[in-house]
Amino acid sequence: MCGIVGYVGSKVPGSVLVEGLKRLEYRGYDSAGVAIFDNGGIKICRCEGKIADLEKRLVDEHFDGSIGIGHTRWATHGRPSETNAHPHYYEGIAVVHNGIIENYLELKTMMIEEGGVFSSETDSEVLSHLIARSIRKGLSFEDAVRESISMVRGSYAIAVLCEKDPTRIIAARNESPLILGVGENENYVASDIPAILSHTRKMLFLDDGEIAVLDRDAYRIQTLDGEAVEREPKHISWDPIMAEKGGYKHFMLKEIFEQPRAIIDTLRGRIVEDTGDVFLDGVTLDEETLKRINRIYVIACGTSYYAGLVGKFMIEELSHIPVEVDLASEFRYRDPLADENSLIVLISQSGETADTLAAMRQGREKGAKLLSICNVVESTLARDCDHVLYTHAGPEIGVASTKAFTCQMTALLLLAMYLGRTRGDLEADRAKELMQHVVQVPGYVEDVLERAEEIREIAEFYADAADFLYLGRGINYPIALEGALKLKEISYIHAEGYPAGEMKHGPIALIDEVMPVVTLVPRDSVYEKILSNIEEVKARKGQVIAVAEDDDREIAERADHIIKVPHADTILTPFILVIPLQLFAYYVADFKGTDVDQPRNLAKSVTVE
Ligand code: F6R
Repeated sequence: MCGIVGYVGSKVPGSVLVEGLKRLEYRGYDSAGVAIFDNGGIKICRCEGKIADLEKRLVDEHFDGSIGIGHTRWATHGRPSETNAHPHYYEGIAVVHNGIIENYLELKTMMIEEGGVFSSETDSEVLSHLIARSIRKGLSFEDAVRESISMVRGSYAIAVLCEKDPTRIIAARNESPLILGVGENENYVASDIPAILSHTRKMLFLDDGEIAVLDRDAYRIQTLDGEAVEREPKHISWDPIMAEKGGYKHFMLKEIFEQPRAIIDTLRGRIVEDTGDVFLDGVTLDEETLKRINRIYVIACGTSYYAGLVGKFMIEELSHIPVEVDLASEFRYRDPLADENSLIVLISQSGETADTLAAMRQGREKGAKLLSICNVVESTLARDCDHVLYTHAGPEIGVASTKAFTCQMTALLLLAMYLGRTRGDLEADRAKELMQHVVQVPGYVEDVLERAEEIREIAEFYADAADFLYLGRGINYPIALEGALKLKEISYIHAEGYPAGEMKHGPIALIDEVMPVVTLVPRDSVYEKILSNIEEVKARKGQVIAVAEDDDREIAERADHIIKVPHADTILTPFILVIPLQLFAYYVADFKGTDVDQPRNLAKSVTVE
């Protein structure tokens, strides 16, 4: 999510670091910093804002060392500010970190009790403290890093400097990417290829549980247990633009493929797999208040609104609280019946959508409790609501929302389980069973992503169609809406989403031999009904593209094209069924040659009415 770059060699490290950080800046980071050796000690320079601001500050700084680490932050724990920016320094140790340390509060409390003084609100700061603590106990730099990371739970890619061992960088990874760049008498470490691509094309990719020691003229990789890892560098032939997109043609495609990781990050630290318990950091509604809530309003715009429609099914099923879902642009101008016993859940990727902010103010006037589901930390919506549940999708660059959507559904599912458990409507056994399925969702999504080529072929077949109809039922009706929205916004093809049962009340008139109908066919309680809807389309010579489960044999004789997906618990099917629709829209748009990442007339964040 954030960006890391580190350098050891004979160039001016400040320039190498700033240049590397600039290459990652297009993702819209909020703060940055570097740690560079000077006069035997580590000097830190950090600031809130753009890399250009950091660069200006560095003009007046002097460093005599030739080794340093840098970081651009995209806030997850703690608002964007200079003190929350990396590197974090403590007692001779400087650390940059990407990822989420799940047990940071526990570790922080332990070290405060031991006399440690913390200066930031981040989870990352525990790493500099832990490593310094191990060094105090007499461990070498390398062993101190090893001991410290064995104490943390969560994901990390780190690069560390140590004043007692001033010639090297130590780096380590677990579930967050980290790359070594090999040069002539110089070595690099980075979270992303573009950060170091102008210096070297010889790169090594660390695996989970590996530690790398980088000196100027050598590097070595070990496992956490100290076993040496032999790995040859790879030659990277990407051009700089391709590198920014991680080798994908568009950011949208990259972000579609990032979804398994993004869902894991949104679940991380919030669930207990063995019990089905859910903990929501940032939500401090006490049991008493939760039990008084008699209605939930879910408010959002666009794709976030469709996530809200899925959330209604989840919340009503698991917590039995009635839910109304409203478009923010409608809610703000009506006189809703919300009151102090209502919970208003406002969903927004950006947290800056004008209509959603206005709806929040309307809700506040009514005295309702306000909870936001946001992706951008410290956005206006996140700051101004009483409670916030962050999605950890990471920066979304493609204008068409993909990973933010699946993470919003993840957050809503967690909220639904949390409400259900706290109010007693969700039995412990069901919670436990459901959680065992929830943790499999990223794997299911991965599975669908592996079928991208088949989806691309189907998209090529239909790319010249002028109109599309998308049909779904129940919890997947909003997925039909989202599939149609994705297609129209990036390919400019007219598409409509409909609850399948409504087809005969109007849209059926549109069906003829040139009308493709994308139908969502999970094996749920309305499976037979949707098969009948497919028959109705076929009887009028429509072309059916069915998204159906792997072992569904009945669909074969009914549909013209089938996209197979794994089976899942009904409440989890939206996560799986939306992926082929995102890919389908992407490939159709790509065949048509549109500007996929920046479709005409659209803005990533709609900050005006
Ligand atoms: C569609 C899309 C938009 C946004 C909508 C709300 O792909 O991205 O429909 O979902 O503009 O934006 P946020 O979630 O930032 O409030």
